[in-house]
Amino acid sequence: MIGRLNHVAIAVPDLAAAAAQYRDSLGAAVGPATDLPDHGVTVVFVTLPNTKIELMTPFGDASPIRGFLDRNPGGGVHHLCYEVADILAARDRLIGLGARVLGAPKIGAHGKRVVFLHPKDFTGTLIELEET
Ligand code: CO
Repeated sequence: MIGRLNHVAIAVPDLAAAAAQYRDSLGAAVGPATDLPDHGVTVVFVTLPNTKIELMTPFGDASPIRGFLDRNPGGGVHHLCYEVADILAARDRLIGLGARVLGAPKIGAHGKRVVFLHPKDFTGTLIELEET
């Protein structure tokens, strides 16, 4: 069902410093910072030959990654995003298998529909599915 690894998301306390590190130390192609108020984060995408890295930091007081950064003040890997062809079919299949799907599909950082899957159902890893 899942296809390509669309991105790995890393929560960071200082987005400008993280973006500069990927650009200047690691020599990666780093995009602009983009606020995603619906998701409570500001993101920078780093484009690699085979996938992307999503650097993200809280946007607003109710950011869903605030707690993660409180527990991991230096930052850390937050979620993996896999591509699926049909997000509603994927969601329904996973609900049918007993997995917890976190909320209704939303429009994600790339203008496509995304859903998140509970990390306790997937070996301790928060998973985002993005419709291709
Ligand atoms: Co993501």
